[in-house]
Amino acid sequence: MLRSVLAGCGAYLPANKVTNDDLAKRVATSDEWIRERTGIHCRHFAEEGEMTSDLATAAARAALEDAGLDAEAVDLIVLATATPDNTFPATATKVQVKLGCRPGFPAFDLQAVCSGFLYALTVADNFVKAGQAKCALVIGAETFSRILDFEDRTTCVLFGDGAGAVLLRAEEGTGATTDKGVLSTHLHADGRQHDLLYVDGGPSSTQTTGLLRMHGREVFRHAVVNLHDVVLEALDANGLTAADLDWVVPHQANKRIIDGTAKKLGISPEKIITTISEHANTSAASVPLALSVARADGRIKSGDLILLEAMGGGFTWGSALVRV
Ligand code: UT7
Repeated sequence: MLRSVLAGCGAYLPANKVTNDDLAKRVATSDEWIRERTGIHCRHFAEEGEMTSDLATAAARAALEDAGLDAEAVDLIVLATATPDNTFPATATKVQVKLGCRPGFPAFDLQAVCSGFLYALTVADNFVKAGQAKCALVIGAETFSRILDFEDRTTCVLFGDGAGAVLLRAEEGTGATTDKGVLSTHLHADGRQHDLLYVDGGPSSTQTTGLLRMHGREVFRHAVVNLHDVVLEALDANGLTAADLDWVVPHQANKRIIDGTAKKLGISPEKIITTISEHANTSAASVPLALSVARADGRIKSGDLILLEAMGGGFTWGSALVRV
């Protein structure tokens, strides 16, 4: 059977690093509160004029370099973002040009907010399995700083900008869980929870971009339950247990959510990749950013079994088991 093998990973963070103390000058908050309640120490914000397509292109370039491939090889781009450069066309089409890819192959955006990378990985994996792509770039890229209300301390301290990318290459596998590549993906959505995490604008509703609104406590409660369930779903689907995992790469929304979910699953904290202290919540970029960091620093090695999970607005949530 065809497998989507992870041939390369890349990441990009804007140069502008914003500390909790920097934010405390703008809203009534403190470094102590943010660290204790979320685990965040700082985040990166894009410079004026620096766009999601710029972040996505830099991360994609790094993934191509990591794979030892040039942009000519790419035949699919799926870009997960809730903060596109424009309402249309898709930011992915800009990335196709900025990377210097040959034109013609499909390139599109996908919107599932913080679960966006899991959704994009699933779509690209299915393209590969169907024989419709051989070398797919899957990118999560966001400029959430553009949709934050800097008068709302309950949300503006939580998010950051960044991008992460993976390059998937089609390879024949045996179908066993010892294969390299994406072993399975699991996606969910529950639109009844729309109002717990949303942006209060859009082209069809207000003709404005809008700002992020969240009922944090309720989102937190749902996140621990949904993430626990979707991790077990991935393990069960492959006849594996948490003990078989080498690493978990969770969505980086809140250190307490990450710790609480791991504890509920009986996964040791040493197996969890956390980047939230430096990145904050970068929405669709958070999982591929964390993955790239742990690959680059040598923690995640070839042959390791990793579990990716995320949950976000919609609600949407998902998981994927990947052997790297
Ligand atoms: O990626 C998408 C998914 N998003 C998430 O998963 C986020 C999920 N939610 C969370 O991470 C947490 O709920 C938050 C970090 C957003 C909030 O933490 P919490 O422990 O649930 O705090 P809370 O909302 O219960 O607020 C506790 C107190 C409140 O004051 P009172 O009413 O007790 O006097 C807030 O007004 O903390 C206050 N507060 C703050 N204080 C200082 C809220 N935000 C801040 C702040 N600085 N930035």
